Amino acid sequence: MYEHDVIVVGAGGAGLRAAIAADEEGADVALVTKLHPVRSHTGAAEGGINASLREGDSWDLHAYDTIKGADYLADAPAVDTFAKAAPEEVIQIEHWGMPFSREDDGRVSQRPFGGMSFPRTTYAGAETGHHLLHTMYEQAVKRGIEVYDEWYVTNLAVTDHENPEDRECHGCVAYDIKSGEIHGFKAKRGVILATGGLGQAFDHTTNAVANTGDGCAMAYRAGAPMEDMEMIQFHPTTLPSTGVLISEGVRGEGGILYNAEEERFMFEYGYANNDGELASRDVVSRAELTEVNSGRGIEDEYVDLDMRHLGEERILDRLENILHLAEDFEGVDGLDEPMPVKPGQHYAMGGIECDENGETCIDGLYAAGETACVSLHGANRLGGNALPELLVFGARAGWHAAGKEMKAAEIDTGPSAKSEDGAVQPPVEPGAIDAGSEDVVADGAAIEPTAVIENAVENERERVETLLEADGINHANVRADIQETMTRNVNVFREEESLEDALRDLREARETYEDVAVSDPSRTYNTDLIHTIETRNILDVAEAITLGALAREEFRGAHWRAEHQERKDDEWIKHTILAWSDGTPELYYKPVNLEGDEETYEPKERSY
Ligand code: FUM
Repeated sequence: MYEHDVIVVGAGGAGLRAAIAADEEGADVALVTKLHPVRSHTGAAEGGINASLREGDSWDLHAYDTIKGADYLADAPAVDTFAKAAPEEVIQIEHWGMPFSREDDGRVSQRPFGGMSFPRTTYAGAETGHHLLHTMYEQAVKRGIEVYDEWYVTNLAVTDHENPEDRECHGCVAYDIKSGEIHGFKAKRGVILATGGLGQAFDHTTNAVANTGDGCAMAYRAGAPMEDMEMIQFHPTTLPSTGVLISEGVRGEGGILYNAEEERFMFEYGYANNDGELASRDVVSRAELTEVNSGRGIEDEYVDLDMRHLGEERILDRLENILHLAEDFEGVDGLDEPMPVKPGQHYAMGGIECDENGETCIDGLYAAGETACVSLHGANRLGGNALPELLVFGARAGWHAAGKEMKAAEIDTGPSAKSEDGAVQPPVEPGAIDAGSEDVVADGAAIEPTAVIENAVENERERVETLLEADGINHANVRADIQETMTRNVNVFREEESLEDALRDLREARETYEDVAVSDPSRTYNTDLIHTIETRNILDVAEAITLGALAREEFRGAHWRAEHQERKDDEWIKHTILAWSDGTPELYYKPVNLEGDEETYEPKERSY
């Protein structure tokens, strides 16, 4: 068994920042990650990092834009904490050597991004995430932070108290991809989940194949609730054939969207009369699909994004990476022709419920970055807010787990007197097939940390042996079915009947998953085994997304419902919370906290 004060699971931006913060507090911290840190998906982030740095801008303007962008589903204590801390974090990474793009006078450049009232998006060309990741990895190396790379954390080691809020997380179980061995990791102070997104629940996504919702699924099964899982962001500009991201930075620099009639439809059809292409992402994605559905799409599928008028010099200076992506993945030369784009799954606004210090309702279990829901992004994240989020809240989780004295959190986790029972009637029973038999919590009344971890390791060894020894079907069939139904039924436009269809399909996928087996018997680099374990995680998060989407009977931010065409503030300024109780998801609601430091945010009509 390996032992550290703080174990950080995942070594993308949030994981690295959390580990550095824990190290800053003197903790013995380790990163346990299924990828080498610099292969993490943060490296694919293109556009930028928002922070109020310039004269004329301020943290409260940033906070207001974020709350409005979130369609008033974000919690003000999280938003205020974020907007205040973002400048300091950005200045710090600049001091760590982040090669930001700069103005002629040497100042870090900032460009406009969607839904922002001020051009506050700092960037490094169109490969901001790549540079951020490398800058932070250098810091981790410099500090001698231990990295267990190519170790896949497959489950948490949590006590088996009946109420999740009484449980304690003592560590995790990880599969060493190189040797095929399974070992326990004991965390004396805390485990921080920073495993990134869950885009592989969809078949058209900007996310990497590694983004399989591992952190959410592990935490969910261990008893930490999932918050606002229905809130999925579909980015308006992804390449049609692969889902590869074409940065919002293109529109920030002045790129224009055209339909098949060569109309600038964002203005022509009044989708966003003020901000046009730079409306928030939910607005632009719906506009594009409305164009396609009205017969004004190109090849009935996509629209064009044109940046030719920006000129070669500016494009090469600020967006060079976009030229390579369009050429390599779509065969299009962005200097000479418009680029085809359509909406694709990009980001999960929901995730593991946690507070401003990253704590979940399970003692010793933290979450940060995309896998977490603090909740900062509410019903729609503004472009450029993900990277500062992972810096601000990654750091806070790392400090808190390492024992730093911090202001008590204002955001509640777990059920409380303010919670309200939820109502959703799924057409089929959701959750585990044999509910209860697969609990990740220890069997018996195990509470002693080492026993809890040993028990979790034993369960995992059994699971893996069963997968390796059984005859059965390959997980890829199940994964493809999940992705297909999610993309067809739980996309930008959602209807009750389709959501129910998705739940039926997911139930069938669960039944099929009971018979999966791994045909490759090898113990080293057995990607078939890893993908099989990931597929179970994808299933659990896909179902949570769909249950949340069925429950939320209104149209807010990224969540559009055919039968409910209004934002219903009287009823729905509340978070959907799903708790995995004995293998069966249970729904309840918690009120959104709109009381900020300086003002109580009043929901207003949202237009761009
Ligand atoms: O469009 C982009 O460059 C993506 C940025 C983001 O998701 O924050």
